[in-house]
Amino acid sequence: MNRSEWKIHHAEGDHRIIVTKALPGTRWLEILTGAGCRVDVCTSETALKEGEILQAVGRRCVGAIGQLTETWGEALFDALSQAGGRVYSNYAVGINNLDLESATKRAIAAGNTPGVLTETTAELTVALTFAAARRIVEGDRFMREGRFEGWLPSLFLGELLWRKTVGIIGAGRIGSAYARMMAEGHKMDVIYFNRSPKPDLEQTVRDYGAYLASQGEAPVTCRRAGTLEELLKQSDVVSLHVVLDESTRHMIGREQLELMKENAILVNAGRGPLVDETALVSHCREHPGFKAALDVFEDEPDLKPGLSDLFNLVMVPHIGSATRWTREGMAVLAALNVTGMIRRMPAWNRPDISPFLGVSPPKAAPSIVNAEPLGIPLYGE
Ligand code: DGY
Repeated sequence: MNRSEWKIHHAEGDHRIIVTKALPGTRWLEILTGAGCRVDVCTSETALKEGEILQAVGRRCVGAIGQLTETWGEALFDALSQAGGRVYSNYAVGINNLDLESATKRAIAAGNTPGVLTETTAELTVALTFAAARRIVEGDRFMREGRFEGWLPSLFLGELLWRKTVGIIGAGRIGSAYARMMAEGHKMDVIYFNRSPKPDLEQTVRDYGAYLASQGEAPVTCRRAGTLEELLKQSDVVSLHVVLDESTRHMIGREQLELMKENAILVNAGRGPLVDETALVSHCREHPGFKAALDVFEDEPDLKPGLSDLFNLVMVPHIGSATRWTREGMAVLAALNVTGMIRRMPAWNRPDISPFLGVSPPKAAPSIVNAEPLGIPLYGE
């Protein structure tokens, strides 16, 4: 039974669009209604099940904006296509919840929302790193429980990260932004593991290192690890930023955790299944000096048994991109992906998406990930 609730905006619009959660801000809705869309927005907070989305797609639906909590595969893309659908946009940068092949097979353009999450997610990763290193959550709980009886020389000793080494697994936009924050803010050396070299990141850290040297300080360094093992052994903090696919699922398990330093910190603000959390629970229990900080979870929203009992683990409910500016920006990009495709515009092909956040966005869809196989022309070409 479909228990979700829906609110209809601009009921007289020509193109019916479904949006599976209410999104922050108002501009995204103005963009859609301004393009002649009728917009059906699901106002329920629970994640929609496939049957509920199928029912919402119904017999006439030109496009959809969906969430990372939904699996958009064969069944949903088929229903969307049968309903006359031409475009789907994820309200997320990650697209591991989409079966891209199913969308492409049905000539459905699939979009995502990159560029506006970068610094926001990197900042949350920094916050998690220090929350773990300095035992902020444990300390907060201690205070609230009224257990603070006075300063003590060894109360809640944590880890100093200044001048240590941060290991970045996946040096894409978010991983690189986090690496820069840790190098420039905390003078940490950077070691990264990535399919291809990242000369821009290396140069940025090198330039900062040269500046430090010019001030008589030791420089910071950045280098690409030859192997994951090398990064795990050498890093004081390991942060995960790779996409989730079959090659990265459980890339951090018992064996990898054993390679890490006894008092290292593991941070995951990427995707939950990158970490074998059952192995993480055992590792945290066996190594009280080890710390972990998670924004994402293997069985999200459920927690693997044992996670919530660990004192050396900090966790937050998948809020990496949760700032008003970012979430409103993501909504704008998702809406423009939809209207861009409805209006048969080209796909944007530049890394900087900021022009879409201004009052007169370019005449393009900001991010269509299957533009190439669908033969959608690229902006300016
Ligand atoms: C994304 O966009 O992939 C993020 O995980 C949302 O917070």
